Amino acid sequence: MRIEIMKTLLNMKIGVSGASGHLGRATVAELVQRPGGHEVVAISRTPETITALAQGRFGDYNRPESLAEAYAGLDRLLIIPALEPGKRAAQNVAALDAAVRAGVNHFVFMSTAGARPEEEPALGASYWRGEQHLIATAPTWTILRMNYYAEGLVQQARASLDQGVLTGLAENRVAFVARGDVAAAAAGILIGDGHAGAIYNATGPERLSGAERAALIAEITGRPLAFLAITEEQLRAGLTQAGLPAEVVNIAISIQASFAAGAFDIVTGDVERRPGQAPMGGVCDSGWGRTGLRESRSDGRFAIGLSLRGGYRRNQILNPGSSK
Ligand SMILES: NC(=O)c1ccc[n+]([C@@H]2O[C@H](COP(=O)([O-])OP(=O)(O)OC[C@H]3O[C@@H](n4cnc5c(N)ncnc54)[C@H](OP(=O)(O)O)[C@@H]3O)[C@@H](O)[C@H]2O)c1
Repeated sequence: MRIEIMKTLLNMKIGVSGASGHLGRATVAELVQRPGGHEVVAISRTPETITALAQGRFGDYNRPESLAEAYAGLDRLLIIPALEPGKRAAQNVAALDAAVRAGVNHFVFMSTAGARPEEEPALGASYWRGEQHLIATAPTWTILRMNYYAEGLVQQARASLDQGVLTGLAENRVAFVARGDVAAAAAGILIGDGHAGAIYNATGPERLSGAERAALIAEITGRPLAFLAITEEQLRAGLTQAGLPAEVVNIAISIQASFAAGAFDIVTGDVERRPGQAPMGGVCDSGWGRTGLRESRSDGRFAIGLSLRGGYRRNQILNPGSSK
């Protein structure tokens, strides 16, 4: 079976659209290091930033004519939406249409956990629209719904420690996932077979409540932190007072509303599944296994790590400048 997969991959052109962002770069890095003889094409508005091991091509979601050339000759394509509030639904549709016209055979769409019918300005609306358009128009497709990044929790922790309060719109549970695990899952789908028509959820191993994550962060940092449910008005006032622009405030509120609605309250084994072990074959064949937020032991001392694979540990929260 492995030999058959290798034969399929040989000379295959795999594209990643939205390749210069954090997730795009990580996915391209996963793809170029995996065996199979496939070619990797990385599409972005800044192709000059692409690793030498992949072919960089220019593609702007706001300029569909640029996408025709960008997607030409690709066999498989991952579409990672950009984050431009208000524009993203149209961008997703434009990218999918351009890729269908370019003759791409298999599409992987990066979506969000909890995707459901929603209207703009809810952040999830554009993902749902993209999913529906994909299902209606792509020859073959796979959807990968990512949970909230563990790295995002680290950022929130840093911003909350001085106040001693981690806020949310209601108590809620989220299965934070390391961004690297989402990238590994995407790469596994792109080079694997048997994923047509599947909707996967890339999640961490635990559904952490607000109180549990506050306690976890407090334990990691040794500083007091409590979870507090506040109103949308209070959240808006606090973020505005902190100097954040209105657009960012709206995004933060939309994320917290998704948390409160239970959009990220799901744990699956999709990230850790490997070829041959699960009926559908593997999403992630990286061998790193499931991460997200979890406990680890180091130096004989009990330590709690945020996302073991991503290296987000105590040091990340205490030393915001450190890269690992
Ligand atoms: N699950 C989560 O917790 C979470 C958190 C944050 C974001 N996200 C979502 O995850 C996806 C990727 O996240 P990320 O961390 O990789 O974000 P990121 O680092 O901000 O990357 C986004 C990339 O989008 C590209 N882009 C922006 N406008 C574009 C356009 N008009 N046409 C083509 N490309 C454009 C930019 O690349 P160029 O400027 O080079 O074109 C940028 O590098 C997005 O859908 C984002 O909304 C998820």
